[in-house]
Amino acid sequence: MAAQRSQALVVFGATGDLAHKMIFPSLYQMVRHGHLREPVIGVALDDWTVEQLAARAHDGIAAVFGTVDEAIFARLKGLLNYVRGDYRAPETFAALGQALGQAQHPLFYLAIPPSLFETVVQGLSAAGLAQGARLMVEKPFGHDLASARDLNAVLHAVFAEDALFRIDHYLGKEAIQNLLYFRFANAFLEPVWNRTYVESVQLTMAENFGVAGRGRFYDEVGCIRDVIQNHLVNVLLLLTMEPPVTTAADDLNDEKVQVLKAMRPLTPPDVVRGQFDGYRAEPGVAPDSTVETFAAVRLFVDTWRWNGVPFYIRAGKNLPVRATEVVVRFRHPPIAMFRDVDTTPPNYLRFRVGPEVSIAIGARRKAPGSEMLGEAVELSAVDNTTDDMMPYERLIGDAMDGNRQLFTRQDAAELAWRIVDPVLQAGTPLLPYAPGSWGPSDAMEGFGPPGGWVDPEA
Ligand code: BG6
Repeated sequence: MAAQRSQALVVFGATGDLAHKMIFPSLYQMVRHGHLREPVIGVALDDWTVEQLAARAHDGIAAVFGTVDEAIFARLKGLLNYVRGDYRAPETFAALGQALGQAQHPLFYLAIPPSLFETVVQGLSAAGLAQGARLMVEKPFGHDLASARDLNAVLHAVFAEDALFRIDHYLGKEAIQNLLYFRFANAFLEPVWNRTYVESVQLTMAENFGVAGRGRFYDEVGCIRDVIQNHLVNVLLLLTMEPPVTTAADDLNDEKVQVLKAMRPLTPPDVVRGQFDGYRAEPGVAPDSTVETFAAVRLFVDTWRWNGVPFYIRAGKNLPVRATEVVVRFRHPPIAMFRDVDTTPPNYLRFRVGPEVSIAIGARRKAPGSEMLGEAVELSAVDNTTDDMMPYERLIGDAMDGNRQLFTRQDAAELAWRIVDPVLQAGTPLLPYAPGSWGPSDAMEGFGPPGGWVDPEA
């Protein structure tokens, strides 16, 4: 089945939030770009008609894009079908089989809580629908290493690893793909991309909003599980991996896994955890919750290339801006020839990976005047494209094509848990912070890369 495209897409959880906010808007874009012509079958417990499902999809599309191109929507609606049923009932899968008709290699998308995965996977298997099919699953892939292994066992009982597509939507982002491209399509980077020249790497993922109505979900997860173990570790992997032999999925994953193996598991001094004031009053959040809404971590990659270079990640809700940014800071020139007052190393690379996209190189130049004094300058390339593919659009399309490049392999998912597990279990101190600040200020005072954090601009 290697490169054969799936002849149908089946969305379990079609009436849910993820489908509404992400999946249908992405399918609409796929239709717009001519990337979807196959039937789309929604499955859920709700007693809806296909008309109701289409109306809900329309609503989700309008919410994302402001307006809906009715001609494009009509094409999407023409592909839509709905199977109503309980995931525990064999009849649901029999009805799905009917709806699938001759489709030999459908893509099943589990946009449902992980607690239901086993039921659905077993249902598909019992109905004979799993053979030749692909399965796409959403993060979180487990809650810790042990549960990730359990989940993998559940999925592998029916689907082989090369039929599994674990989504991390960060990997579907244009800007994140650009990290890989920029690193390996430019020769000037490689000689300096190592411990001899790089002093530190920092990664900030700031969100200027709270849990946005997802309190119940978030309170079971927290910042480290929600975005660090997956999205942000994945960004670090693209920055730190060795050049892959080819860009084939397994070659990419092999190199990522090497870095993950070399990453030291976190210990309590490597972590600052914070919770914004007012979080416990959010709907769905426990009044005595000890879940972090902010985390900063320090990681080390014990390889020849990176030994001794600190990698800092900080992420949180209710921070001053919404921005995700990487700053790779280079060491000082070996001899200070000019009398510059600034003690921060002058050279850096700054990758803005969201919401806007830019790459900037930091340097110093001589300031005009009689003295040999300098000033900081940034050379930047800003991407103003507005019609980027949505991450889910790219990922659903790739999964339908059987292309696993942007998906997380089992060993990588498990190794990423191995890194964060020790601090999740240790219950490190939880410190309050004011909404709109950069996290718990006292603890963050002494915790950061040499030269300090760079706060991304709005
Ligand atoms: C999700 C997290 O995976 O990523 C959210 O569950 C977070 O908490 C979101 O807000 C951020 O995604 P993006 O694409 O807006 O940076």
